[in-house]
Amino acid sequence: MKVPATMRALRQTSLNGPRDLRLVTDAPVPSPGPGEALIRVTAAGVNFVDLSQARGTFPAGPKPPYLAGIEGAGEVVAVGEGVTGLEPGAHVIGVGITGGAFAEYMALPSAAAAAVPAGWADEQALGLVVSWPTALAALKPLGGVTEGQTVLIHAAAGATGQAAVRMAKHYGATVLASASPGKHDVVRELGADHVIDSLGSDLAAEVLELTGGAGVDLVLESVGGATLEASLAATKRVTGRVVVFGMAAGDAAVTNRELVYKHQVHLIGLNIGVLAQAAPRIFGELMGEMFALIADGVLAPARPTTYDLADGPKALAELESRATVGKLALLP
Ligand SMILES: NC(=O)c1ccc[n+]([C@@H]2O[C@H](COP(=O)([O-])OP(=O)(O)OC[C@H]3O[C@@H](n4cnc5c(N)ncnc54)[C@H](OP(=O)(O)O)[C@@H]3O)[C@@H](O)[C@H]2O)c1
Repeated sequence: MKVPATMRALRQTSLNGPRDLRLVTDAPVPSPGPGEALIRVTAAGVNFVDLSQARGTFPAGPKPPYLAGIEGAGEVVAVGEGVTGLEPGAHVIGVGITGGAFAEYMALPSAAAAAVPAGWADEQALGLVVSWPTALAALKPLGGVTEGQTVLIHAAAGATGQAAVRMAKHYGATVLASASPGKHDVVRELGADHVIDSLGSDLAAEVLELTGGAGVDLVLESVGGATLEASLAATKRVTGRVVVFGMAAGDAAVTNRELVYKHQVHLIGLNIGVLAQAAPRIFGELMGEMFALIADGVLAPARPTTYDLADGPKALAELESRATVGKLALLP
């Protein structure tokens, strides 16, 4: 396939958020460096991290102007030096944390690219390398969920949350799913046992009531801000775990005093990129388990809400304003 010299792409021009994400038509098509594959992007996943990067709250994130987007799926058109096992024509999905997915072509680190499952369209694989492994890591290797336990899942109607609800139910947990009122039917359909209004006034009290005062065994905490305190208060004393992997509502502080005298729980941090690099064996097992869940039909092909590449700023703004459900995709 002939690769053009320039392409359409979304360039972030400031750290003022998605409104300064601009469509350009003359971005240079990257050449694949050593260990990289160049893909013709057919679908790019929108993730909350795109907002953190666009607002400059992602530590050591890209400096504007930069081509945005970390998750790309598409067809391999060229490979760089040292790449083995990936041929042009293969369909893969991968992550490039420094950006470039919101474009017609993207250079991906080939080691972290996964094959799009047979029979799936590229856009149906969105989630496979970010949202789903994060949800699984929070539940299993870090959260230690077992059958019969109770799990509180925040942002349960979101891309990561939906996968978490499905998997937690598969592992035999009772799921308390928190979401905005307009999204409650979605999480009920996924199998959530109890639905909690994420805009409600006393989440901790509601969870304690639903658990007979005991609290939940595990919280998937991706919200932060004032919600972190509610999550800690809603967790079972001594054995309960809170896996912190997001901060959509901002920073929150927990003191050593609080852990000793107020919230005697296990507080666990998760970043899927660091997990993949620092604990490759755990990550390998995680991906193996995820593909088994796909084979068993627990994780079904994604049905993302799609936007034209040019509407990327709108997609990000909707994600930021909590207006979205499930995975979002930009189609170049
Ligand atoms: N650490 C990691 O490696 C990692 C990897 C992937 C994702 N994450 C995190 O997981 C979370 C979910 O990511 P996602 O991409 O799947 O997004 P998402 O869940 O599809 O969308 C975010 C959802 O968070 C909820 N939310 C609660 N407070 C919010 C606030 N103040 N502003 C915006 N949203 C708020 C909203 O749901 P309701 O309105 O229904 O409450 C919103 O729809 C994010 O925090 C993300 O940073 C972390």
